[in-house]
Amino acid sequence: MKQYKNFISFEGIDFSGKTTQLERLGRRLREINFPFHLVREPGGAAISEKIRAILLDKAHGEMHPRTEILLYSAARSQLTHQAILPLLEAGEYVIADRFFDSTTAYQGYGRSLDIAFVEILNRFATSGLFPYRTFLIDISPEEALRRRKAAARPSDRLENESLRFYRAIWEAYHALAAQDPARFIVIPGEQPVEMVAAAVWERIAEIWDLPR
Ligand code: TMP
Repeated sequence: MKQYKNFISFEGIDFSGKTTQLERLGRRLREINFPFHLVREPGGAAISEKIRAILLDKAHGEMHPRTEILLYSAARSQLTHQAILPLLEAGEYVIADRFFDSTTAYQGYGRSLDIAFVEILNRFATSGLFPYRTFLIDISPEEALRRRKAAARPSDRLENESLRFYRAIWEAYHALAAQDPARFIVIPGEQPVEMVAAAVWERIAEIWDLPR
């Protein structure tokens, strides 16, 4: 297992507010001139962005779960080897908008694939790289569905999943957090945006020794 203190990831079920929180965090880090790199999963490298487009295309409803997990893993492998590992080796700070926990949760648990195999595939795709800390922005599956309805924007292929699927992912994230409490930081995501942001900042400041 490879772990760099400079590498953290963010996870959460769809509509958890993860993207909003990453935008706020990015703004605050820029305000203090703290240099960092934000990478987005699936994507973040030219090859990975092309794979992302295949994955999120609504016309690909026939995609088999095994195809899906291999594509996510392929996208992550390229991003990890082309961007994340070289940055970390150079001492840079990297924040990942999703990493392999998303594959364990969405494909492993969500699509009922063999979890032991998923873990091996995750290690293979990332050459054993683990986030030092993983922020789980936590909202209930019911809240996710409410937010999806309120947003009323055309949803992509994955957001069309049922409440049952969201519930499986929510349970998966909680199981992962319980298995690895030293890595996971669970932030309640149903409080006002500012409070979530403050909780995230407090923990990041502690990890990276930033001003409070
Ligand atoms: P996003 O909403 O964070 O942009 O993520 C896009 C979708 O991709 C989201 O529904 C979660 C899903 N996803 C997986 O199913 N497996 C993965 O490994 C990753 C990284 C994302």
